[in-house]
Amino acid sequence: MEATRRTIRLVVNGKPRSIEVAAHETLLAALKERLYLTGAKEGCGVGECGACTVLLDGRAVNACLVLAVEADGRELGTIEGEARPDGSLSALQRAFIDHAALQCGFCTPGMVLSARALLRRNPRPSREEIVEAIAGNLCRCTGYEPVIDAIAAAAEEEAAEGSVVPPAASAGAGEGRGP
Ligand code: FES
Ligand code: FES
Repeated sequence: MEATRRTIRLVVNGKPRSIEVAAHETLLAALKERLYLTGAKEGCGVGECGACTVLLDGRAVNACLVLAVEADGRELGTIEGEARPDGSLSALQRAFIDHAALQCGFCTPGMVLSARALLRRNPRPSREEIVEAIAGNLCRCTGYEPVIDAIAAAAEEEAAEGSVVPPAASAGAGEGRGP
């Protein structure tokens, strides 16, 4: 018997998309099989490793634990959307390279997106807050210290950039909006 299917509409990395999914299909499966976005990794498949982390309405979630239908009408962010609009690496991505915060790279997309979720809600996190933010992301290669260093460095760089050109201010510029 054919599984119940449903069309969902969501915004993926800033672009509206419409896909048909099965009622039982995970968001991770839909990412790979319907949207052809393969950056999120499947490690454990049961919510333990964080390799499948994506952003749902800006919050880090394990895509293996979320049904695709739950993403209907929401904003989805994946590692494919982390680079800057001109295609250059984000401060976070560059910092991971500069601090040798990846070796095999399997955990890296999830680590970067957990860090992105943190920096969105808290642009100047303490080291303890960084540790807490990546507590659900397992890495068997780096020993975590380089990852924490990378996120701290990226936070500093983005905060410094923000003090020159605040994103909210530049988004409103030219549209006649008040302060
Ligand atoms: S694959 Fe989703 S948490 Fe491990
Ligand atoms: S870099 Fe290999 S698991 Fe993290």
